[in-house]
Order: sequence, then C-alpha cells, then structure tokens
Amino acid sequence: MHDYLILHGVNLNMFGRRDPAQYGHESLAQINARLEALAAELGVRLDIFQTNHEGEMVERIHAALDDGTRAVVINAGAWTHYSYALMDALAVLHVPVVEVHMSNVHAREAFRHHSVLSSVCAGSIAGFGPLSYELGLRAAHGLAGAAGL
Ligand code: DQA
Repeated sequence: MHDYLILHGVNLNMFGRRDPAQYGHESLAQINARLEALAAELGVRLDIFQTNHEGEMVERIHAALDDGTRAVVINAGAWTHYSYALMDALAVLHVPVVEVHMSNVHAREAFRHHSVLSSVCAGSIAGFGPLSYELGLRAAHGLAGAAGL
C-alpha cells in the first residue's frame, strides 16, 4: 500500500541523457531516490510509475481510484500540452493532483506554455529541476493532509 502516486510520462526515462541544458544530468532513478528519501522523512509511502504509452498511463490513473492513492504527482512530459485523454482520466480522481515540470516551460517554446492538465490539477510547479518533484511531493502531502485523506 502506498500514500502517493508519482507518475512520469513520455520520454522522462531519458532524464540524464536528454537535453541537459533543460533537464540537467540526474537520471530518473536518481530523482526517484530523492523522492523516496523525502517520503521516508515525511513518513509516507510512494508508488512510482513511468511509461511511454499513453493508454498505460490512463489505466494507471484509473487504478488510482481504488488502490488507496491519497494524492498524485504527475509530470506528463509532452502529453501535458495535448493529451485530453490524460486530462479526462485525471478528472475522474477524487484526490489532489499536482503537476510538475523540471524545466521552466513558460520560458521555452510557445507550445509548452499551455498545459491541458492544469485545469484538473490543484496547482503546478515548473522550473526547479529535480526540486520541482520534491516540492510537488510536499504539496501533495500538504493537500492530502488538509483534505483529511
Ligand atoms: C517537461 C516539459 C515538457 O514540455 C517536455 O515535453 C518534457 C518534460 C519538464 O519536465 O520540464 O518532456 O514536462
């Protein structure tokens, strides 16, 4: 059983090997290790999932309805900008969803300025590298606690 679900979308398994100017040098495994360390500090458990397949991500989100997930932290990668399927899936949930991005999407290409997921998220955090995820987990923890979940 876990408390919080951490979702990494398309291409995020390439962190550490992909555009270091935007995403730095840490691998996804290293980012996940940071999150596990923070979770231990907070006394909570994580379920961490990465996929490059949109349908698999939709199904993992659906499963969160019944698996005890108390909040979700999601970096959907490029799906952020166009996936109405992920937006609809997240809208089914009754728990807080926190959107995170490693890079400052607002300082990049115009297509990255809009997130179709933001409207179904409690808030979003972008531009702080791996710290975006840690801030996202702290936000999820605070929101789940405040909601009495
Ligand atoms: C990203 C930003 C997206 O625009 C991009 O497609 C990604 C990563 C980020 O973490 O900064 O894959 O979500």
